[in-house]
Amino acid sequence: MKKVLVIGGGGREHAIVDALGRSPQVEKIYCAPGNAGIALQAECIPIKDTDVEALLEFAQSNSIDLTVVGPEAALAAGVVDAFRSSGLKIFGHTAAAARIETSKEFAKQVMERCGVPTASYRSFSDYQDALAYVSSRPFPAVLKYDGLAAGKGVVIANNLVEADAALKDMLVGESFGKGRVVVEDYLEGPEFSFMAFVDGTRVYPMPLAQDHKRVYDGDKGPNTGGMGAYTGLPFIGADDRSFALDNILRKVAENMVSIGAPLSGVLYGGLMKTADGVKVIEFNARFGDPETEVVLPLLDSDIYEIFEAVAEGRPCGEPIWSSDVTMGVVLATKGYPGHYEKGFPIEMPDSVPTGSFAFHMGTALRNEGLVTAGGRVLMCVARASSLAEARTCAYTLVDNVRCPALFCRRDIARQGLEAEREI
Ligand code: AMP
Ligand code: GLY
Repeated sequence: MKKVLVIGGGGREHAIVDALGRSPQVEKIYCAPGNAGIALQAECIPIKDTDVEALLEFAQSNSIDLTVVGPEAALAAGVVDAFRSSGLKIFGHTAAAARIETSKEFAKQVMERCGVPTASYRSFSDYQDALAYVSSRPFPAVLKYDGLAAGKGVVIANNLVEADAALKDMLVGESFGKGRVVVEDYLEGPEFSFMAFVDGTRVYPMPLAQDHKRVYDGDKGPNTGGMGAYTGLPFIGADDRSFALDNILRKVAENMVSIGAPLSGVLYGGLMKTADGVKVIEFNARFGDPETEVVLPLLDSDIYEIFEAVAEGRPCGEPIWSSDVTMGVVLATKGYPGHYEKGFPIEMPDSVPTGSFAFHMGTALRNEGLVTAGGRVLMCVARASSLAEARTCAYTLVDNVRCPALFCRRDIARQGLEAEREI
C-alpha cells in the first residue's frame, strides 16, 4: 500500500486527491498545503507549494512512495529536479520542461520548430519597439507578458491607447517585473482544453474540456483563473481531436525529447478551433484548473498506476474514461478577480444531489466553521449522461451553498448546450 504526497491546495489538487482516494493501492494521502475540503480526504501539512527543501524533507522523513505536483510555481521552483536528484519518485516536469508553460517565447519556438499551428508573433523587451510593431498590425492585438502571471498576463487591446497602456504596464511599470512581451495576432473561434499524461513521446489523452475565463456571463469582464468548465464538447469533432492529438500534443512531446527536456507529467493544450483549423493559444505544464475538477471524475482507471508509470518512465495501459459528461460552476468571492476579502462563513448543504460534488478551491476552517480563503472558493461539479442533466444538478448544488459573499456565472456550458441543440 502506497503513501502519496500531493503538492498544492486548490480545486485541482482536491480533484487529484479525490481521484487518488479511489485507487486500491493508495493507503494514505498527504497534501501540502491543502485546504479545508481536501482535509476531509487527506492529511494536510502546512508546507508552501514552492518550499522545495521542506517538501523534500517531509517526503523523505515520511517514506512517501510518490509525490504529485499540482501548481506550475512548484515545477518552476525545481521541485521535480530536487526530488529526482534525491532519488524520490515524483509526477511532474523538470523546470527545463516546464518552460513550455513558464516562457511564452520558448513555447512559440517549440511550435515553430515542429510546425504546430499558432498565431504569428514577435517578442519584445523594449517598450518603443513593441509599440511600433503593434501600431503596424491590425487590432485587436494580443499582448502576453512572458512569465508566470496566473492567467492574468494577457491583454487583448482593441486600439492603440489600450495597447500602449498595457505595454507600459508590462515593460516599463513595476507591477510585472523585468520581462518580455509576446505580441501575437488575434484568433477567433471556440476555445477548448486538451490535456494528456505525457512521458517522453508517450501521450495518453484525456477527455476535452472547456473553461470559462471571463468573470461574468456572456464572456464579459476581465480574465480570471477560470469560472467553470465542462466536458463533452459537441462542437469539437473527432477529426479535430485527432488532429490536435497527432499534430499538436504528440509533436510537442517529440520535440521536447529531441531538445533534451522530455516532458514527464501533464501537457495542457489551450486550443482554439478557428476557421483555419485548430490552433494553439497556450500550453500549460500541469493539470488545468478548473478543467481537472471536471475531467478526473471521469477516469475509470487507477490514477496511481498512471502517475507512477509516468514518474518511472515506463509505459502504462491506455487510461479508461467514462462516457458520462461533467460540468462544474465556480463560486468566487465578490470582487474577484480584483480585490476581495477573506474569512466569510460558508454553510454547506447537509446532503448533495446524487452525482454532484463540491471541490474546494480556497477554503479554510476557523473555529470549527468553514470560511472563504481565496478568490475562487468552491467548484460545484455534477456528472450525468447529458450536459443538460449535469447542468441542472450542478446549479442545484450551487443554490444550496449558503454564503452571500459568493457569486458565480449562470451560463456555464452554454456553448456546449447550444451546439447540442443544433446537432
Ligand atoms: P492565455 O493565458 O495565453 O491562455 O490567454 C488567456 C486568454 O486570452 C485565452 O484563453 C484567450 O481567450 C485569450 N487569448 C490569448 N491569446 C489569444 C489570441 N492569439 N487570440 C485571441 N484570444 C487570445
Ligand atoms: N484553466 C486554465 C489554466 O489552468 O490555466
